[in-house]
Formats: sequence, C-alpha cells, structure tokens
Amino acid sequence: MAQSTSVGGHQTGFGENRRTDNWWLEPMITVVVFTAFIIYATWAAFQGKHYFAHAYLSPFYSPILFEPTGTWTPESWALFPEVVTSIKHHTWLGTWPTWWPKFMPQSPAFLILAFPGAFRFTCYYYRKAYYRAFTGSPPACAVGGVQQKDYKGETRLLLFQNLHRYAMYFAVIFVFILSWDAFCAFFKGGIPFKGEFGVGVGTGVLVINAILLGGYTFGCHSFRHLIGGRKDCFSCDFKPTLSHKTWSLSTILNRNHMAFAWLSLFWVAFSDIYVRLVSMGVWTDLNTW
Ligand code: FES
Repeated sequence: MAQSTSVGGHQTGFGENRRTDNWWLEPMITVVVFTAFIIYATWAAFQGKHYFAHAYLSPFYSPILFEPTGTWTPESWALFPEVVTSIKHHTWLGTWPTWWPKFMPQSPAFLILAFPGAFRFTCYYYRKAYYRAFTGSPPACAVGGVQQKDYKGETRLLLFQNLHRYAMYFAVIFVFILSWDAFCAFFKGGIPFKGEFGVGVGTGVLVINAILLGGYTFGCHSFRHLIGGRKDCFSCDFKPTLSHKTWSLSTILNRNHMAFAWLSLFWVAFSDIYVRLVSMGVWTDLNTW
C-alpha cells in the first residue's frame, strides 16, 4: 500500500490529505466570489453613471467628493432628471478637479473605493480565505500546500497587511456615511427633510447594506482591540471595566465575522446593482412616491 509523506501529521504534497469532507468547496467558492466581485466593482467604477435613483445613492459611489462635469450627460439620467439636484446635494467638495486625466471617466467611485477595498483586502479573515484560495498555502486545514522556499510570512512582502488597523479608521467613517445615505433614502431625491418622506424597496436595500457593513466593521479584530482599550489580555488582570464591556459587545459581532464579511460583500454589490438597474429603468422600484 502506498505511503504518503507527512510532517507533523500533515501530508506535504499539494492537495494531499486524509480528509473525507469537501474541503475544496470553500476555497473554490472564495475564488469564484472574490473574482466576480473584483470584476464587477471595477466595471461599475468605470461606468460613472446610473449610481442614483429616486432617493438612493449607490454605496460604490458614496461619498461623492466632486460633482462630475465632463462626462455628465443628462440623457444618461433621462428617467431621473431630478438627479442633477440630488447629486449636487450629495457632493462634498465642489466640481470635478481640472487635473483629472481626460481619458478617465469622471467617476466618483475612483476617489473612494480604495478605502473600503484596503480594509477588506487586509482583513484578518479575508487574508486566511484568499491565501488559501489563491495561493494554496495551504488550501485548507490538514491539506498539503504549495511548497514555499524562504517564506517570510507577513514580515516581508506582505508587511503592508499591517495597515489594516489604519484602514479600519476609514472603514468606521464609511459606516457612518453609508448609514446617512440609508437615512436619506427615506426622502425623495435623497434630500432629508426637503424631499417628500417615503419608503421604497431601495430604502430597505440601503438600510440592510448599512447594517451589514456595520456588523462587519464593528466586529473587526482591530476595532475590537481599539474599543477594548488596546488591552492584549483581559483575563490576566480582570476588572469589569467599561472597555471590557465594549470589547464584549464587539466580540458578539466578531464571532460572526466571516458571515458578516461575505454577506456585506454580497449586499454592497447587490445595492449597486439595484440602484443601477432602477436608474436604467430595467427594474421598477416599488415605493410610496
Ligand atoms: Fe476583518 Fe478587521 S479583521 S475587518
């Protein structure tokens, strides 16, 4: 009977294992979902239009730092002529900067997607998922991985992953911004207290988006460490402090961090798709307006 090499109880050839479950399913789903998300988000960012409908601003485009001018074609918003006023209202810093390269669409998404992108890319959970799925090192627990000579882990090439705690600060700001957008989605034109109060399916889509992103962000390991007073060990010298209480609250979300990671990723893309298709007239938004 053939014997396979093992080190510390683990087989070493790529993909070799003694597991009897479908261990390959999780890395495969990770590759498919991640790749699809990156392709869609890149495509959506390049569109530069159809990111507003009724009262809904796509989370891929929020906040709108500069109001587009060059690629601004009212025909592309024919179904929602009031969008011009709404986008002006949502713009933070004035008209689009003149230094912007002519060959690039004036898409507000280009100016902001790097922040949530960096947060997710450096997330401790996602790191485990995509190291396994994309580099196979190893592809799953107790499964032989790609052999790497002189692997230095996250002390050399992947040192930038330590930026996660800084990306987290931006991510927290984004949760508040997207929560505000969800609130705006209760007012026609997305203009609070000026637009007519109402509710639509898109309102629910944006509210769920803010909740899932909040669940993901506030359960982040870095956020939990921060809100726990930066303590590395509570049990070493336990006192029922406020920081321990806040740490415990974050822990509730942290236990489900993987679920929040995937659900929020899926829902933020769905929110953009929803706003886009309503804006294009492909989907009809049921609402009270
Ligand atoms: Fe996943 Fe911070 S560890 S978002």
